[in-house]
Amino acid sequence: MPTDAASLLDARGVDAGYGTMQVLWGVDLDVRPGETVLLLGANGAGKTTFLKSLVGLIEARSGHIRLGGEDITKMRSSDRMKRGMTYMSELAVFPDLSIEENIRVGAQALGHANPGARVDELYSLFPVLRDKRRDPASSLSGGQRKMLGIAKALSAEPKLLVMDEPSAGLSPLFVKEVLRALSSLQGRGLALLIAEQNIGFLEIATRVFVLEGGRIRFSGTVAEMSGNEELHRAYFGLK
Ligand SMILES: Nc1ncnc2c1ncn2[C@@H]1O[C@H](COP(=O)(O)OP(=O)(O)OP(=O)(O)O)[C@@H](O)[C@H]1O
Ligand SMILES: [Mg+2]
Repeated sequence: MPTDAASLLDARGVDAGYGTMQVLWGVDLDVRPGETVLLLGANGAGKTTFLKSLVGLIEARSGHIRLGGEDITKMRSSDRMKRGMTYMSELAVFPDLSIEENIRVGAQALGHANPGARVDELYSLFPVLRDKRRDPASSLSGGQRKMLGIAKALSAEPKLLVMDEPSAGLSPLFVKEVLRALSSLQGRGLALLIAEQNIGFLEIATRVFVLEGGRIRFSGTVAEMSGNEELHRAYFGLK
């Protein structure tokens, strides 16, 4: 498949795995500037493995990954981050540090020129964090902890935020809160790539990729996905 010139992130034919086990088989996925892409897949489908290969925590064994047109396939993780891609893992915050320390650590580690100003901006996006800024992150609720994880990941003003299961471990109410926070980020030019099993995230997605057994089974818009009878049955229940 030809490379899409309009892509912010463009992964082509990515194979990856652990030791002798191959997990990903020729994965193609692209994200355009400012859009929200959902990577759906069941437990063990290879979502985390793919995200790790994107951000450089494991190496792609073959294929190519481009960010802003530049080949980053062999680049170290910190250099990928400097080019505007941040990763929010499932364990996104340091529990023993205060809320403010967490955000500052994020801004500094990712090389933001003025961490103080950025912290203020993030507090206006997530006011609950300002109220608790001196408390340890461990004192936050699950939903608030995700907000902090998002604030920390945003502290360096990335172009692309890559998130691994932001709904993990959250009750439906907190999932709604996270969805609300993410939708408030949309339209600010930030692109999101979200790996999830929770189809609630289709609400905020522009496009969807479905990963099964380490292979892309479907890619298209949410409407196209829901129009596909087999996928509709698998992910939305019976019609
Ligand atoms: N560090 C590792 N070493 C060896 N095998 C691993 C490792 N991490 C994951 N795997 C295996 O790779 C496969 C894909 O796992 P991965 O974590 O990418 O799936 P996932 O889609 O993120 O699943 P989940 O929804 O449960 O997080 C699984 O078979 C898993 O057992
Ligand atoms: Mg995972």
